[in-house]
Amino acid sequence: MSAPAWRVSPAPALCGTLRVPGDKSISHRVMLLGTVATGPLEVQGFLWSEDCLATRRAVESLGAHVEELAGGKLKISPPDRLVASLAPLDFGNSGTGIRLMAGLLAGQGLTAVLDGDASLRRRPMERVAAPLRRMGAVIETSGGHPPVKITGQGRIEAIDYDLPVASAQVKSAILLAGLSAEGRTVVRQPAICRDHTERLLESLGCPVERGDWGAAITGPARPMGGQVIVPGDFSSAAFFIVAGLLAGGDAPIELQGVGMNPTRTGLLDILRMMGGRIEVSRPREESGEPVADLCVRRTDLVGVDLPPEVVPLAIDELPALFVAAAYARGETRVRGAEELRVKESDRIAVMARGLEAVGVDVSEQPDGLLIRGGGMTGGVVDSGGDHRVAMSFAIGAARASGPIEILDVANVATSFPRFEHAAGTLGLSIESLHARHGT
Ligand code: S3P
Repeated sequence: MSAPAWRVSPAPALCGTLRVPGDKSISHRVMLLGTVATGPLEVQGFLWSEDCLATRRAVESLGAHVEELAGGKLKISPPDRLVASLAPLDFGNSGTGIRLMAGLLAGQGLTAVLDGDASLRRRPMERVAAPLRRMGAVIETSGGHPPVKITGQGRIEAIDYDLPVASAQVKSAILLAGLSAEGRTVVRQPAICRDHTERLLESLGCPVERGDWGAAITGPARPMGGQVIVPGDFSSAAFFIVAGLLAGGDAPIELQGVGMNPTRTGLLDILRMMGGRIEVSRPREESGEPVADLCVRRTDLVGVDLPPEVVPLAIDELPALFVAAAYARGETRVRGAEELRVKESDRIAVMARGLEAVGVDVSEQPDGLLIRGGGMTGGVVDSGGDHRVAMSFAIGAARASGPIEILDVANVATSFPRFEHAAGTLGLSIESLHARHGT
């Protein structure tokens, strides 16, 4: 069987208006909190991607009832009590799904096995299991990785925990476990990282404290049912922000309803440091999350030496930033980004190899990349099965000197279903090559 691939042709001028799909991080959280809420949760803007659908199937196995309503809305009805699933819960490619579920189940008195695909089985789980054990949970990992077995404990204890890495998934897992612990569970973070769990818990009436220092929850507590609006995913918008800067036409690219949570928008600050012309308009708030419209125009970018503290605020957008850097004048240096090595792929190694394959002068460092701008040629890039790598090179192809073939792109559906169609509406032509490459 051949893995799907793309052939992306250079595009003379990208422009148009787009609404990107719902936020992946928030969609997972909504599904999980809806499962333990005191009443039904109605959700607008949920991301119907493979990752979030895996979380949907997992909560259904635990007894939640998930219904699709008219207009793309969703209703999650919690069960009276969670039921144990005999089969392992399969989270596919999703680190967020499996880690947050480990936290949610830690104090629920159920036994469960949490698993996923080959990529997920390589990702570290002890970072979540260790603090949950300190709360009294019984959790076994498989040599530090999935599958993970949680043996039901009806009682766990609140802890005060210093996160060793600025990971929103670990912070969230502990806070979700804290819902079933007696007292104040505190998570302190070494650097600011995304705070969607805290905001959603707060908007559903839970006693949360949050700040640059981290977050705390006082349990036992349960979220209320109600209505939630999920904003457009900034990480999905990121590809088209970079596309507009690199290959915009006379008219701009406009992106509507984009989530602008300041713990997510580090890429905007970085691209502005590089000279990028990006306007933000109609700022508003939906379900406790900032949202706005963006307007991006073509700009000649200059390289940047990235301040390491911005890294967690742009962690998922660094592949797109590396592509922008390939077209910038001068050098771009990214340090302190070793977390990229434990994402859906080793994004430092996979991006370095991909950039080299299209003629970019790049040096791989243990914790980042050094890129000397000069543009991309045509070529063949292996995405390593990583959705964000695949989409980043698709955007890079817009301004390359020849077509770029991108291998192993099926996982784009984990975060951005119909990406090719969205790119096509802005003038970027992505041709699917189902049978030509692959193993
Ligand atoms: C996420 C947190 C980040 C991010 C991931 C989604 C989340 O991971 O890279 O794509 O939804 O909490 P880490 O917590 O491992 O940094």
